[in-house]
Amino acid sequence: MNKAAAAERVAKLRELINDYRYHYHVLDESTMSEAAADSLKHELAQLEAEFPELITADSPTQRIAGTPLAKFSQISHSSRMLSLNDVFDEAEVSAWEDRLRKLAPDAKLEYFADIKMDGLACALVYQDGVLQQAVTRGDGFVGEDVTMNIRTIENIPLELRPAKGYEQFLRGRTEVRGEVVMYKADFAALNKAREAEGKPLFANPRNLAAGTIRQLDPKLSAARPLRYRAYDLLRDNPAETPTNQSVYEALRALGFSANNQARVFGSVRDVLKFAEHWDTARHDLPFNTDGLVIKLNDRELFAKLGVVGKAPRAAVAFKYAAEEATTIVKDIVLSIGRTGSANPVAVFEPVVVAGSTVQHATLHNADEIARKDIRVGDTVIIYKAGDIIPQVLKVLTELRPKGAKPFDMEAELKRQYPELEFERAENEVVYRMKNASGPLLLKRALEHFASKGALDIDTLGEKNVAALIDAELVKDIADIYTLTEEQVRGLDRFAEVSARNLVQAVRERKTPPLPRFIYGLGIRHVGSQTAIDLAEAFGSLPKLAKATLEDLQAVDGIGTVVAESIAAWFVDEDNQALLQKFDDLGVKPVYESHAGGKLDGMNFVVTGSLDTMSRDEAAEKIRALGGTFQSSLGKDTNYLVVGANVGASKLAKAEKYGTKQIDEQTLLEMLG
Ligand code: IVH
Repeated sequence: MNKAAAAERVAKLRELINDYRYHYHVLDESTMSEAAADSLKHELAQLEAEFPELITADSPTQRIAGTPLAKFSQISHSSRMLSLNDVFDEAEVSAWEDRLRKLAPDAKLEYFADIKMDGLACALVYQDGVLQQAVTRGDGFVGEDVTMNIRTIENIPLELRPAKGYEQFLRGRTEVRGEVVMYKADFAALNKAREAEGKPLFANPRNLAAGTIRQLDPKLSAARPLRYRAYDLLRDNPAETPTNQSVYEALRALGFSANNQARVFGSVRDVLKFAEHWDTARHDLPFNTDGLVIKLNDRELFAKLGVVGKAPRAAVAFKYAAEEATTIVKDIVLSIGRTGSANPVAVFEPVVVAGSTVQHATLHNADEIARKDIRVGDTVIIYKAGDIIPQVLKVLTELRPKGAKPFDMEAELKRQYPELEFERAENEVVYRMKNASGPLLLKRALEHFASKGALDIDTLGEKNVAALIDAELVKDIADIYTLTEEQVRGLDRFAEVSARNLVQAVRERKTPPLPRFIYGLGIRHVGSQTAIDLAEAFGSLPKLAKATLEDLQAVDGIGTVVAESIAAWFVDEDNQALLQKFDDLGVKPVYESHAGGKLDGMNFVVTGSLDTMSRDEAAEKIRALGGTFQSSLGKDTNYLVVGANVGASKLAKAEKYGTKQIDEQTLLEMLG
């Protein structure tokens, strides 16, 4: 990206992020998920790192969240309410542990881990056991007095419970810190009621909890089911609470809810196992969580290790992989499915979502694209549905580049598949190839797969293919590897010998040459030379399957349309399943590179007929030595092999390009 484009993008990103932050932190509304906003902030920070001259003091990357609302009275915290640094994986947790070990080489480190709740942090101040004040986190130093609203939360004791062994907490000042949350089920019920009343829906439990606490009408808070879960307890004498475990015990004794899930661990390895467990189990918790809080159990050591920036050294937030992210739609390609349906697929700038890199998502059909108004060049929020399949949630139209055009399915079909015709039946959302039923397409596909340039199975001509498919012995091209002699013999067209021959021929092709196999897949626009180029460039099927549009276009001779067609083929789920099936059936294409052969880098065109071999044979021999067999003469053609009965126009073109003309004899000598 050049500086002007970066400046424009930076300005748009800032506007959108600032808008999100204002809604989130001040109005307690959500314009998008935290993960999506993080993704945008990340992009902004990257651009600012690349173009430091674009950094301004008011950039969202230069700010700290949370400004107290002016409508509440402002209260200073007795000690700062800190935030936590995030860690995202094992390596980062281990690095944190290493730092702790350096700072406290002699200590036996014990860890206290708890679920990190997604709510609103709130400090409760008790004097001689009686609730005096409730204060939001605000900017960490000063928060808002929300005592009236907090008093409506049923599980907050207005007076601390007397309990044996905890008498001292009822004397003097006791501060409890914790999170105000709304349970997922309560949130869903509230929204259901609102839907019935035709009112706009609340965005998420966190915002609703925060919005409820940070408004001025206690009747409203009383009407909304909120809960408080305590995680910290402050006393003037810290010796009364030596460990975080003892804090949780005291909190429960004094009448608070504290998470039962919290545990003490002797090693980071055990904490990580706990984290792994909760990564999936968290979905069954009554409230939302996006990670764990891990802190040293020993509170004296915790305090001694101090604070860097706005976070304590002795604690971290372990965050689960974000399930949403933003990225840019680089293209929308159309794959033709098994039944002849045209399936639009978005190609993205690769981005990590929920722990894996995503570069495609199905867009389902033209109506769906129109409904979400997804255009090439758009920035979109993507998420993983059921944690596996990436989907486009919505377009951030604020970030749309000028001139981005609405997606036109019919025009795209014409552009990407100029030689095919499509139609859309009434009451159907899908475009399908004209005159192409599933079995018919399968017959063509199998004939192609078995053809001379592909797997070269001569027992699989048109009629035999039809017989196998009509008898439903073959439902996709991989099924030929499952055929048994017995099954085949049962068909009218096959006798004992021909059945055996067929099964034998197929068995012998379990390790087909990769270029032939790629060609045999019948990917639109991939002829045998392109298949060879792909094999040479990627070396294996899994690598080809993972190639981005850019990787594909970097291959000599592959332009946009061909690259799109290849990418579209590999993102189609049916095709992915097909490749998996080949693999499961033990079909392993092999590739022997001919690069470095004596014709490496030389391009040949054959015109007219040859005496000693067919064109296909000539092509094969040239390729076996690393040469390229071209179907038509171009500027990059090195040799035009002139056979018998040659048209004048080919020769004229060769003259024009200065291509060297050779006869069959010379070719034979070159082939050795
Ligand atoms: S302990 C120094 N425990 O996460 C702060 N915090 O990013 C130590 N939070 O502002 C806090 N669940 O509001 C702790 N089980 C839990 C928590 C928790 C949610 C919030 C808390 C804090 C933020 C830290």
